Amino acid sequence: MGKASHIIIGLLLVALSGTVLAENEIPGLIRSGQYREGTLGSVIQPGQVQQTSDGVYSVGAYPLYTPALAQGEGREVVQIFCRFCHSTTYLTMQPPLPAAAWEGVVNKMINTYGAPISEDSAKQIASYLRAHYTQTARKP
Ligand code: HEC
Repeated sequence: MGKASHIIIGLLLVALSGTVLAENEIPGLIRSGQYREGTLGSVIQPGQVQQTSDGVYSVGAYPLYTPALAQGEGREVVQIFCRFCHSTTYLTMQPPLPAAAWEGVVNKMINTYGAPISEDSAKQIASYLRAHYTQTARKP
């Protein structure tokens, strides 16, 4: 074999290794410093990204606001027993639940988490939740 064929084989090997390496790059992979989603699977050419150097990004305090519980009979009992371990936001952040589901929640707090709530108070709590936090009763 002549010198020229060695050079050609050498060049072929270099070209081949290049394609193998290129295939190992995952398309759409986000590299550090590049904070955009990849366009993997997209056939649309993304628009030009407008970048500014004077952008201000600020994050306020974590919202700790606890919505007020609905007025009505049994509210005080709920205030006493149901914010013993967590805030009453746990109640207001639930979607409207059927009465049976609320009863289940109250029972879980007592039986699973050990909430010290008497049977009588538990009944008052359940009826308060039924009156204000079910699908038909809940005010937005
Ligand atoms: C003994 C402590 C304790 C008391 C008292 C308590 N809870 Fe809980 N509650 C918990 C724990 C623990 C969780 C689960 C927290 C979590 O998963 O992040 C929880 C979660 C919840 C949730 C979220 C949904 C769920 O099922 O996990 C609701 C709703 C809730 N409590 C309602 C109530 C109501 C109503 C009362 C009053 C009857 C009450 N809690 C009293 C301990 C308590």
